[in-house]
Amino acid sequence: MRRKCSILSGTLLCLAAVAASAQPQTVEQKAEVCAACHGAKGIPVDKTYPVIWGQHQGYLYLELRDFKSGARKNDLMTAVVADLSRDDMMALAAYFAKKTWPDLRQKSAPDAEAAVANRVNVSIGCTGCHLGQYQGDATVPRLAGQQHDYLLKSMRDFRSRARANNPGMTDLMKATAEADLAPEADFLAGH
Ligand code: HEC
Ligand code: HEC
Repeated sequence: MRRKCSILSGTLLCLAAVAASAQPQTVEQKAEVCAACHGAKGIPVDKTYPVIWGQHQGYLYLELRDFKSGARKNDLMTAVVADLSRDDMMALAAYFAKKTWPDLRQKSAPDAEAAVANRVNVSIGCTGCHLGQYQGDATVPRLAGQQHDYLLKSMRDFRSRARANNPGMTDLMKATAEADLAPEADFLAGH
């Protein structure tokens, strides 16, 4: 096995790459590298990193595919998927989808913020796609209990097209007032 190391955002990131002759790695072995950021027990090591434990399989796969194709850009994740095949990404999506979503112990939003989120939902219809209690399904992500700072960053990234892999979400975020995004993130994180 070869190890490929690089410095990203001040973190020494070593990715195990399977050499042509090496024994095939199991999905558990391939998932080890993910724990460095997404957490050994599913609680991400940084507030801006998303929970992937218990996220929906179809969605997890689509995001890995989009990082790989460059449709979704993130330096850390681009390095991670570089050596993964389609089958690896399918297997990792199935592996993480079966895990239990971690409790990040984020507080419920105050009533005034929940009211903003409910107003946004009435006008945009978030739960039409993200479903009841923002649980998502299949290729639509669960938002309930996701990391607060990651949610806020994601909504802003869609709005600015820094995240351009789903033009529909970009249009919806452009239709949402910037001032509503912080209460929305508080509400979803504590939901
Ligand atoms: C060096 C840190 C790091 C490592 C290692 C890492 N990730 Fe990530 N991952 C991130 C960050 C940061 C993001 C959020 C990117 C953004 O803000 O758009 C992310 C996003 C994701 C997403 C999108 C989640 C969502 O809700 O949209 C998936 C899926 C994912 N990672 C899977 C994996 C898998 C599987 C592995 C292991 C093979 C892995 N990651 C390893 C840092 C990492
Ligand atoms: C037409 C269906 C639809 C509607 C309506 C919708 N979303 Fe989404 N949303 C999606 C899909 C699909 C994705 C995944 C995009 C991708 O492939 O990266 C997504 C992604 C997201 C993400 C990123 C999650 C992550 O893990 O990275 C956030 C946050 C989000 N939506 C918030 C909202 C909010 C808030 C609303 C209401 C204002 C909303 N969405 C309305 C379909 C929808």
